[in-house]
Amino acid sequence: MRAVVFDDVSRSIDVQAVEVAPPSTGEVTVRMTASGVCHTDRHVVSGAFPLGCPHVLGHEGSGVVEAVGPGVSSVGPGDTVVLASVPACGQCWYCRRGAANHCERSAELAAVAHFRAGGVAVRGFAGLGTFADRITVHEAATIPVTTTLPPEQLALIGCGVLTGVGAALNTAQVSPGCSVAVYGCGGVGLAAVQGARVGGAAQIVAVDPVESKRKLASTLGATATVDPTSTDPVDAVIQLNDGRGVDIAIEALGSAAVQLQAWQSVRKGGTAVFVGFPPGDDVLTLSAQAFLLRGTRMCASIYGGGDARVLVPRIVRMAEGGQLDLRSMVSRTISLDEVTTAFERMDRGDEVRSVISFSGH
Ligand SMILES: NC(=O)c1ccc[n+]([C@@H]2O[C@H](COP(=O)([O-])OP(=O)(O)OC[C@H]3O[C@@H](n4cnc5c(N)ncnc54)[C@H](O)[C@@H]3O)[C@@H](O)[C@H]2O)c1
Ligand SMILES: [Zn+2]
Ligand SMILES: [Zn+2]
Repeated sequence: MRAVVFDDVSRSIDVQAVEVAPPSTGEVTVRMTASGVCHTDRHVVSGAFPLGCPHVLGHEGSGVVEAVGPGVSSVGPGDTVVLASVPACGQCWYCRRGAANHCERSAELAAVAHFRAGGVAVRGFAGLGTFADRITVHEAATIPVTTTLPPEQLALIGCGVLTGVGAALNTAQVSPGCSVAVYGCGGVGLAAVQGARVGGAAQIVAVDPVESKRKLASTLGATATVDPTSTDPVDAVIQLNDGRGVDIAIEALGSAAVQLQAWQSVRKGGTAVFVGFPPGDDVLTLSAQAFLLRGTRMCASIYGGGDARVLVPRIVRMAEGGQLDLRSMVSRTISLDEVTTAFERMDRGDEVRSVISFSGH
């Protein structure tokens, strides 16, 4: 079998022949059916998210269970699963309080190296490594679903769609009639636009420099769009709201400068939600006095701001029922060999999501 291996030292990406370990106690082997290419994989390759050792890339996937190890009870061979890029134990302090996205054991559950390439142990990114024909993961990373959605759409629910929809509905708590601005309309941002629509937002302003992204945002629920390269986006968003600003602004790019714009776009007492993953040396600077006087809330949203085991089935139902359009978010279907090209297209803003399809393997 083959996988996309990233070497953290030489910074190279190769499609290599790899072996995957069979499932041991508490583990599951999954035959991949599809995997989205998320910007977080790009951050790994660019060095913004250093891993320290070779990894199989990919963390946004769907597949079918092939084999289970002793003690596995929640899934069995033949089950369709969405892979969780933040595996959750279900029992720790956070998991018991509905915040499984902050599970205390997630790093440990994701730490086992299940692949071997050229005799060397290789881990899967986020405990997964979905850019591979087969993966072995902890049971906690598999969320069983019964669905008619095609694998390419289902895969996106494992990261980008869950992250964006959860940021809007869980973290920002979009409510009927409110106003929302979304900065960055890639896979995550467009899912946030759709989450805001499902939550009943009366106004959704989509900010993105790429025209095709703004057009798609309009199709998916945005009521206005702003090109931040031709106008000051903060002024534009505020003007669209009688000079006050929006109730909620969501940053889905990963830049302190754009986080600041999102926060400045929010009305007094409003909420800024940061979802994008900034580089480690990016520093957000703002006036402490202005922060106090404006009485805003500022928060971050990790992996949908809640429990993926609750969110994933809800999102599947919303997509099947037509409330979420995932078909439009699969902008290109590719093979394992085209991941490097997918990153280049991502850098140019050409794709919402390139999705690897494993059908035919
Ligand atoms: N918090 C989480 O749990 C979580 C989960 C998944 C992804 N992420 C992060 O979310 C971010 C978005 O991921 P994605 O896969 O949607 O990326 P993407 O590349 O698909 O989308 C980014 C979008 O931002 C747009 N953009 C570029 N410059 C801009 C600007 N100045 N203002 C507004 N928009 C601009 C791009 O045109 C593009 O459409 C990444 O940083 C990713 O690592 C976070
Ligand atoms: Zn992701
Ligand atoms: Zn836990």
